[in-house]
Amino acid sequence: MPNRHLSLIDTFIINADRALRTLAAGSDMTSERPSPARPLSEADLSEAERKQAAALMRVNHTGEVCAQALYQGQALTAKLPVVRAEMEKAAEEEVDHLVWCQERIDALGSHTSYLNPVWYGLSFAIGAGAGLVSDKVSLGFVAATEDQVCKHLQDHLTQLPVGDARSRAVVEQMLEDEARHADMALSAGGYNFPTPVKGLMTLVSKVMTTTSYRI
Ligand SMILES: [Fe+2]
Ligand SMILES: [Fe+2]
Repeated sequence: MPNRHLSLIDTFIINADRALRTLAAGSDMTSERPSPARPLSEADLSEAERKQAAALMRVNHTGEVCAQALYQGQALTAKLPVVRAEMEKAAEEEVDHLVWCQERIDALGSHTSYLNPVWYGLSFAIGAGAGLVSDKVSLGFVAATEDQVCKHLQDHLTQLPVGDARSRAVVEQMLEDEARHADMALSAGGYNFPTPVKGLMTLVSKVMTTTSYRI
């Protein structure tokens, strides 16, 4: 029994540590792959363009905070024996995205969203809850979320300043990765959520993107 208690405490500490590292400004997390922005030079943006790019990258960063929480919550409760390795690879790529977005926001002289702790908590609860129901629901949730993220990223490519090649390179690579994550979750047996559920998710993501764009 003492071991059981210890492992619960361990689990709590590991999750709290991950949450704090995700949410900390100037987080010590490092990306596996270097940012696609690195080989490109910084554009000479106007003040309005810089603000626009920073606001969009802040939205993307919040999306990646949610991804961290979703995968962490899911890892806590889901069984996922068959797809564990693939899920872990996807989670690693989400760390890359988080770091790349943070780098772009720093370079653009802005800040991450103040509401990130709220979105982290919500996404963690959803991830853990979905994992408790079943792996099929859990994977279905990943697929639906990634689909939503792809739509945002495509939209951001039309809104980012044309000259901001660095932000665009980050978003383009993320788009490629997220589409792969969605396919992986569906082919691993994820449930294809009905339209009303997807509609509700669109509504929640609208609140997230609108608030993160501003604060
Ligand atoms: Fe991502
Ligand atoms: Fe993803």
